[in-house]
Amino acid sequence: MFDNFPLWPPQASSGAANVDALYVFLLLLSSFVCLAIFGLIVVFAVKYRRRPGVAAEQIEGSTPLELTWSIIPFFIFLFIFAWGAVIYFQERTPPRGATEVYVVAKQWMWKLQHEEGQREINELHVPVGRDVKLVMTSQDVIHSFYIPAFRIKQDVLPGRYTTAWFHAIKPGTYHLFCAEYCGTSHSGMIGEIVVMEPADYQAWLSGGPAVPLAVSGQKLFSEMGCSTCHRSDVQGRGPNLVGLFGKPVALEDGRTLTVDENYLRQCILNSRGQTVKGFPPIMPVFQGLLSEEQVNALVAYIKSLGILVPGQAVKTASATSQSEPKVQ
Ligand code: CUA
Repeated sequence: MFDNFPLWPPQASSGAANVDALYVFLLLLSSFVCLAIFGLIVVFAVKYRRRPGVAAEQIEGSTPLELTWSIIPFFIFLFIFAWGAVIYFQERTPPRGATEVYVVAKQWMWKLQHEEGQREINELHVPVGRDVKLVMTSQDVIHSFYIPAFRIKQDVLPGRYTTAWFHAIKPGTYHLFCAEYCGTSHSGMIGEIVVMEPADYQAWLSGGPAVPLAVSGQKLFSEMGCSTCHRSDVQGRGPNLVGLFGKPVALEDGRTLTVDENYLRQCILNSRGQTVKGFPPIMPVFQGLLSEEQVNALVAYIKSLGILVPGQAVKTASATSQSEPKVQ
């Protein structure tokens, strides 16, 4: 009977059951406390009601009782905190080697592009049983990428990347919502996540011609003249970008940070204040010259130039070795 009246969205990702378990625990605990309080109010009201001829007894408090109801809830809250933190860190940390999908939100649609190059609008096809990492940005206002069946929701902000990840466990079609009010047609900013069996997904992937994102990025890298300074054979006027992603880098202003998608993005658009130690601040500003999709392609290309995976040699996109752009 509950098939037609679902209280919960389907549990379609590896993290969904954990989130639900915590939620059910909170629900049961609050129900218990709520019933206990209201029950005791009724019981005490009856038991200690005013009776003719009986004088009220003055009670000044009880230290053991007060300690008990302070200490026990304290540990219950700590337990909830620890449980929630574990789930939070799991949901916030994309596993290494996850397939990446770039998401660009705009009023009022979701534009998605697979690493392999396929583009989709308001629809995302993914295989069952694989980690998928979403690298998301907005080209206008704040949106929020929300898939109830996967129990993930992440704000998508203009001017930077946010990430989310999931591991689908059940083939099917699931809702995608925008969960941040973003203007007139916010409620129409919806889509579908299609989770497919791996074989079906492969068939879908090979369904149309597509240029891998990193290869589009490489082409752009050469067209925009990036390869003049950022050479991948020797150190040019700009830093050599091979094997850079995921590594710490020392900046001119003394800071050291890890090269991630957001650092690359900032440097591409406007590298002022981000210059790598030992290099002059001569990089042109590309803010306004590149679309979000082009920035994504460049980021994907630079990432493909060697991602250090523990226990593995440097992983290099197969497409990049052959047609390295010529440098004059
Ligand atoms: Cu986009 Cu609401």
